[in-house]
Amino acid sequence: MGKNILITGGAGFIGSHVVRLMVTKYPQYQIFNLDALTYAGNLENLKDIEKAANYHFIKANILEPAALKAIFEKHAITDVIHLAAESHVDRSIVSPLDFVYTNVIGTVNLLNTAKEYWKDDLSNHLFYHVSTDEVYGSLGKEGLFKETTAYDPNSPYSASKAASDHFVRAYGETYHLPYVVSNCSNNYGPNHFPEKLIPLFIHNIINKKALPVYGDGLYTRDWLYVLDHARAIDLIFHEGKNGDTYNIGGFNEWTNIDLVKLMCAQMDVKLGRAKGESETLITYVKDRAGHDRRYAIDATKLNKELGWSPSVTFEQGLDATIDWYLNNGPWLENVTTGNYQTYYNSMYSNR
Ligand code: NAD
Ligand code: TYD
Repeated sequence: MGKNILITGGAGFIGSHVVRLMVTKYPQYQIFNLDALTYAGNLENLKDIEKAANYHFIKANILEPAALKAIFEKHAITDVIHLAAESHVDRSIVSPLDFVYTNVIGTVNLLNTAKEYWKDDLSNHLFYHVSTDEVYGSLGKEGLFKETTAYDPNSPYSASKAASDHFVRAYGETYHLPYVVSNCSNNYGPNHFPEKLIPLFIHNIINKKALPVYGDGLYTRDWLYVLDHARAIDLIFHEGKNGDTYNIGGFNEWTNIDLVKLMCAQMDVKLGRAKGESETLITYVKDRAGHDRRYAIDATKLNKELGWSPSVTFEQGLDATIDWYLNNGPWLENVTTGNYQTYYNSMYSNR
């Protein structure tokens, strides 16, 4: 059956992989990529599919309700996959309000627009909200985040995502808006903006710049290849239960320092450097405020109910990711000139 799907944040890291998957796998769907093109949005990410007959880009901001209403009406939007967000924890510590605006108010604007536009017949519609495991807070040495884990966000970013998740549920309960939410662990892969750990360190290793490891480096994250997240979103969009939440994760925990050492070792080989050379760039710096110690997802429900599991091992995914950055110098060059330098200097000069 045909659908007119509005994907928000489709020019960003994860959104671009979701847009590509939906455009290429479902020619019967019209895919509308709504993105404000902030520093994190980059249409270069979608160059290969921009001419596809079922792909449409709309430059718009989810903070503008009138624009959203016009877009729903003009394109008869049937479903939403909502990824647009401010997504970097360090930026949220410096500018929390930006996160309240886009992540909370922007999400509520979108919910309102969908509710109003679909109100005569709510059947055959879906509001899919893409969220993060960071809403659950921080784990100790043991345990995993389950769908039933209580929300306990610690950063302005995770607090804003938690608030947006709550609003989505509230619209389901109060207005019967059909919805699903998924909470995913840390993603990595091609097109990741080099402010996050993995792409930042790949960029710095290439340029022989210091690798700023926060605190003692023993913070733990559960890494998932971005294409596996996109596959999970596709599956949940089509087969997820109305009003349900799904955790998505790679069962793949790494302390930051072990991950950085693995990246250094893989890149020494690829760059023809002496064994151990890139590791000498590791520099311990001042910790992040409110730094969550450990994230780890229990993705059993998604596996048991919908049959999803990651398709690549971490070593394969990381290898492919490093290759992508090495083969896409102009992309990296493009996003790390101009404002990026200002960002980098202000974020790292006092650490
Ligand atoms: P990103 O920062 O790479 O991309 C965000 C996109 O949203 C950009 O294209 C940006 O231009 C757009 N955007 C920002 N504000 C907007 C606004 N007001 N109106 C319209 N567009 C706007 O983020 P990402 O890493 O791809 O994350 C996408 C989603 O997935 C987010 O909701 C994030 O919370 C969630 N998520 C991310 C991760 C991760 O590891 N990156 C993990 C789990 C969940
Ligand atoms: P990040 O990629 O920002 O994702 P998140 O904070 O959303 O998990 O950071 C991943 C981990 O790496 C986190 O523990 C913070 C740490 N980190 C550093 O040690 N140095 C850095 O320069 C960055 C950006 C992150």
